Amino acid sequence: MNNLLLGIDIGTSGTKALLIDDDGRVIGSSTVEYPLYTPFPSWSEQEPEDWWKATKEAVVSVIDKTGVSPKLIKGIGLSGQMHGSVFLDEKGNVIRRAILWNDQRTAKQCDEIVERVGGVKRLLDFTLNLALTGFTAPKILWLRENEPENYSKVHKVLLPKDYIRFRLTGEYASDVSDSSGTLLFDVKNRKWSKEMLNLLEIPEEWMPKVYESPEITGTLLPSVAEELGLPSGIPVVGGGGDNASQAVGSGIVKSGILFVSLGTSGVIFAHLDTPEGDPEGRLHTFCHAVPGKWHTMGVMLSAGGSFRWFRDSFGDVEIELSKWTGRDPYEFLTMEAENVPPGSEGLIFLPYLTGERTPHADPLAKGVFAGISLRHKKPYFVRSVLEGVAFGLRDSLELMKNLGIEMKEIRAIAGGARSKLWRQILADVFNTPITTINVTEGAAYGAALLAGVGVGVYKSVEEACDRVVKVMSLEEPNSERAKMYEEMYGLYRELYPLLKEYYRKLSNFIDKYYSNKK
Ligand code: XUL
Repeated sequence: MNNLLLGIDIGTSGTKALLIDDDGRVIGSSTVEYPLYTPFPSWSEQEPEDWWKATKEAVVSVIDKTGVSPKLIKGIGLSGQMHGSVFLDEKGNVIRRAILWNDQRTAKQCDEIVERVGGVKRLLDFTLNLALTGFTAPKILWLRENEPENYSKVHKVLLPKDYIRFRLTGEYASDVSDSSGTLLFDVKNRKWSKEMLNLLEIPEEWMPKVYESPEITGTLLPSVAEELGLPSGIPVVGGGGDNASQAVGSGIVKSGILFVSLGTSGVIFAHLDTPEGDPEGRLHTFCHAVPGKWHTMGVMLSAGGSFRWFRDSFGDVEIELSKWTGRDPYEFLTMEAENVPPGSEGLIFLPYLTGERTPHADPLAKGVFAGISLRHKKPYFVRSVLEGVAFGLRDSLELMKNLGIEMKEIRAIAGGARSKLWRQILADVFNTPITTINVTEGAAYGAALLAGVGVGVYKSVEEACDRVVKVMSLEEPNSERAKMYEEMYGLYRELYPLLKEYYRKLSNFIDKYYSNKK
């Protein structure tokens, strides 16, 4: 057998370990899940030790399952949920649970950051991005203000996948794409921003050393290698945030092709040759996992997450059916929705179940079904969820169109992309062809390719993608439906401004009666 590459993705619902060979063929994968804690409304936390246990279990399991010789593994790449803060003390012990990308507790700290920095324009100059509740810097300020005892112990702040790197290699290191989401990074110059760190009074020593994504950051510790049954000394490369890694795994490494990701979050992602993104910061501008390149993206907080919420709350029958048939409950839900007329007879869903990021950076926004009538039975609600997510993603696409970003093809990736109906809805709502690709292993696949570049299996990230990523299916937009959706998108866009003030009142009400939040 050829050389093998191991990609490990620290996701929000679980960790995936994936083995590929140097032709990019998937040899096998294993995923181990863990809980997400919401101690108060709008909080979202995980236990870094759970990630570590899951990583070890997933790696051991994929090797066991595939029966490959661990000696063939030549490199390890890491990817992970972005922005989460892992606070470590002097001994490298975790101080408190990690605060995640979809946690919304830091609205006050975001305002404080803008004030300390001297306004939005200066913040954009330093970081190319806005202060958003999900990003890392406001989480550090929150800790300082709300848990001073924990704050006094902080020695390092790591992102989720970089904590796993620390356990694997003993090194404090990160890569440029993931570091871009901390709001402490000079994205233009691909290094920590001294200005941001000084203005926010965060010691630079707390931040890990930063590498380009395919660079080797360390090697597997002998003790860990023994525990995992791997040879020690395997190189671990920088890897990337899950979106940049997914982009590599889907061949989004040049202009003209975008991805739309339907994971827990929803993302529209485009490659940039220069760090010239949205001058107003509504879209994020981050370093790409391709050395010397950048990317822009719009992030919806609950895309697949909205559909999962619907399944878990109203899909008992479909979940029961899936137990009997071995089929996915989502398949039954979408089958019912296929017979609903496009546009769900006017039922519009706003997918702001955990607040929103792009284009309405608003932690207080909430989900809405607007336009319910007696005719709207369950399948209408399913279709409306799929359509509402597509409209929300179209908001990001519009911002990209305004930047003049070229869009010949949009590749649908992550869990939700398995649904042909959802892909067709996207094609019609975006009025652009939607394709799928041969690999569906997402970020872990991209991380494995980055490892391959780092250890010399591939000459460059671009070469790796050309060699392994192939287009598999195509959904063309239907002009009649596209016309109807165009009009409906207009109605969708009217709703958020109508509700913006109401969301603030609702939040006060919820705080008063349902929350003990700090
Ligand atoms: C990106 C973001 C999410 C997480 C999900 O900015 O917050 O896509 O990375 O894992």
